[in-house]
Amino acid sequence: MQKVGVVGCGLMGSGIAEVAARAGLDVVVRDISEEAVASGRKRVEASLSRAVERGKLEPDARDAALESMTFSTDLDILADRDLVIEAASENEEIKKKLFAELDRIVSNGDAILASNTSSMPIVRFAQATSRPEQVIGMHFFNPAPVQPLVEIISSVLTAPEVTDRGEAFARDTLGKTTIRAKDRPGFIVNALLVPYLLSAIRMYESGMASLEDIDTGMINGCAHPMGPMRLNDLVGLDTTLAIARSMHGETNDPAYAPPVLLSRMVDAGYLGKKAGRGFYDDY
Ligand code: CAA
Repeated sequence: MQKVGVVGCGLMGSGIAEVAARAGLDVVVRDISEEAVASGRKRVEASLSRAVERGKLEPDARDAALESMTFSTDLDILADRDLVIEAASENEEIKKKLFAELDRIVSNGDAILASNTSSMPIVRFAQATSRPEQVIGMHFFNPAPVQPLVEIISSVLTAPEVTDRGEAFARDTLGKTTIRAKDRPGFIVNALLVPYLLSAIRMYESGMASLEDIDTGMINGCAHPMGPMRLNDLVGLDTTLAIARSMHGETNDPAYAPPVLLSRMVDAGYLGKKAGRGFYDDY
């Protein structure tokens, strides 16, 4: 699979597109507005430059990666892709509509249609297409150029050969570590991570501890690279809320119930690092 498409160039889409471009692939990135496309490109440029500064990438490789990427607002540009990874916002209706459109547009009958959803049922996206056996989940972690993991999720309708091809691509072509998960709420990582992130918000909301102490506790007590409140800001509070709602809606498990404070923060536009303010305001 040499021709890769990415739908959505927010935090995750731009990171996934960068990973694919750095692997030497021909990458097309599509978002709905010129503004979104411009900010996605800027995010990729900044990340590639950071990689050069940190000695992870040669300047020539940065230039080659940028050259191999095309940004567009036109969905039809994805017609000739071998793999399309959908990384739109965590809204099931939007994603289902996109899968139906991709099914109509992508002409290669062997193409894999993948979703980077954090928690939503892959089978529902599969059923929006006429090729449900070719739909999988490919779940990357933020920041995608840095985090080695990709979860590979097959739905009950996915052909085993498609799961194998998707995993081989993430592992061998992108150089990621892969794990396989069933199509269940939160897959493997978010099923464990989300209750932790929500518990930290509840702890802060209850007045039991300060932001800084919660984070310092987990960094220095458990050797996490960042504490849960910073991590909530990094993931995006709107994303955490959408994941919690989806997981709670499906399971009714109180561990996934979104705390009221999280909803209020999202209502206020405090979406985390990407918005310049979340639980912390020092971005
Ligand atoms: N490209 C390549 N490498 C980069 C890079 C880039 N753009 N930016 C940074 N790096 C590398 C650095 O070189 C460094 O590598 P070494 O350790 O080998 O030196 C490493 O990444 C860390 O970079 P920094 O030292 O600059 O940054 P940091 O120490 O402040 O770490 C962080 C930042 C990577 C975000 C780190 O804090 C971290 O890993 N945090 C946890 C993030 C996490 O848990 N993500 C998962 C979120 S959950 C999710 O995404 C799923 C979901 O569905 C919600």
